[in-house]
Amino acid sequence: MTPASPPDDNPLGEGLDQLPPPSSVLVIFGGTGNLSKLKLLPALYNLAHDGALPERFGLVAVAMDDLTDEQYRELVREAVTRNSRRPCDELVLETFLSTISFVSGGFEEDAAYAELAPRLKALDDRAGQRLNRIFYLSTAPRFFGTIIEQLGVHGLSDRSGSDVRVIVEKPFGTTKAEALALNARILKVLREEQVYRIDHYLGKETVQNLLALRFANGLFEPIWNRNHIQSVQITAGESVGVGGRAGYYDTSGALRDLVQNHLLQLLCNLAMEPPTTFTADDIRTEKVKVLRAITPIDPDRIEEIAVRGRYGPGSIGGEEVRGYLEEPDVPETSTTETFVALRLEVDTWRWAGVPFYIRTGKRISRKLTEIAVTLKPVPHNAFDGAVVEPNQIVFSIQPDEHVSIKLAAKVPGSGMNLRPVTMDFSYGTAFLSASPEAYERLITDAMRGDATLFTRADEVEAQWTVMDPILTAWGRSSAPPDEYPAGSSGPRTARRILLPGDRWRAI
Ligand code: BG6
Repeated sequence: MTPASPPDDNPLGEGLDQLPPPSSVLVIFGGTGNLSKLKLLPALYNLAHDGALPERFGLVAVAMDDLTDEQYRELVREAVTRNSRRPCDELVLETFLSTISFVSGGFEEDAAYAELAPRLKALDDRAGQRLNRIFYLSTAPRFFGTIIEQLGVHGLSDRSGSDVRVIVEKPFGTTKAEALALNARILKVLREEQVYRIDHYLGKETVQNLLALRFANGLFEPIWNRNHIQSVQITAGESVGVGGRAGYYDTSGALRDLVQNHLLQLLCNLAMEPPTTFTADDIRTEKVKVLRAITPIDPDRIEEIAVRGRYGPGSIGGEEVRGYLEEPDVPETSTTETFVALRLEVDTWRWAGVPFYIRTGKRISRKLTEIAVTLKPVPHNAFDGAVVEPNQIVFSIQPDEHVSIKLAAKVPGSGMNLRPVTMDFSYGTAFLSASPEAYERLITDAMRGDATLFTRADEVEAQWTVMDPILTAWGRSSAPPDEYPAGSSGPRTARRILLPGDRWRAI
């Protein structure tokens, strides 16, 4: 697709491959859903704005709603106008809308696929070539297996002369057994290299930057091990509550919603060994090794390493908010956690004995995603009486993208007084540009056939191996999660799992 206006002069793009992805059609199952409206459609618009969509491109949305092409384009116009990260350019939007059509139908019904097939064929004919096909499953998870089987039945899952790929949204199962069963079902129809299990945290710039900082600098790797690192702390606090998503969230909880996928990915990027090359399989193999090295959790000793919490009423930013149990559609008897704190250990030569703390919660005082690496204290304090705080390297992922290093420095003046100071690298300041949204990067990668930032079958299974014992232990207990007031930093009991000398960072 040719951009209607020149792409932004984006310094982040310097040196990157600017060729658009191969000509493709993207089919979004669940094209009228929340994720589509909030993230996917705005991401596609922004790609169009940057001239980053394929030269020949078509978007087909499939959903149960009874809409015409024109009505669906109106829905897209509204979603993009409301949620795009940059103001809409009318010309770009019109050109983008002209690539879109809509198929109405149930995901389990043959009719939708019978209508889809000729639509895709017509797009090929118009383009004068066999377009690559990317199917994006942005539906309730119970449809993932069915849609892929239907693609197989209707001859849409493979095709000579073009590539067919399927992007599968989260959650990928709710236990290891379910993830295994879903993988088996999918891999009866598709080859693993066609499957793109999405984790949008991997598309975030600072998450990728973690690998750049670690493996493109000589500064960090020599200290990146148990000899120098005291602890690692990964925090993902959110000020939002469950909003209108209680139907999903109450069956999921914070562990499945954020820890199993996003936070384990952060842990892997921080802890993995240097891959031989930056190819999808080398990187994913290293991540799987980290997951397999996490010390298995004993459900009988869960209290020592895990805390679950649930927000009660409180106030955030001066606004009174209700507790989780008062949220619409949450059952009175719910024991679902909205907060999790864990202490994990990666039992390898590099990491043995280093605690990896993970913490996430809804209705925390503010949105904050970061990884803090605390170094061991200096072996000898020569500064008579002065408190020397250990160095800390903090990767801030949200809301600001920056990396800071906490150092001890002398306070100016007489005497030798010390104070912590920080050295900062801020993305916005260094590159003078807002980072693209994670979904922009990931959709482009899928169109290019680069699976590096997607989760492999064995990786998702290994993630569930870590989570299953925690779910088992919590499933056995009838005790409710520990309550914390909305607007706080979580339940006080989160301290229970800290090793002596460690403390949670302020949120
Ligand atoms: C999603 C979860 O995967 O990630 C949500 O389902 C959560 O509950 C969201 O709010 C957080 O993503 P981000 O990019 O806003 O940190």
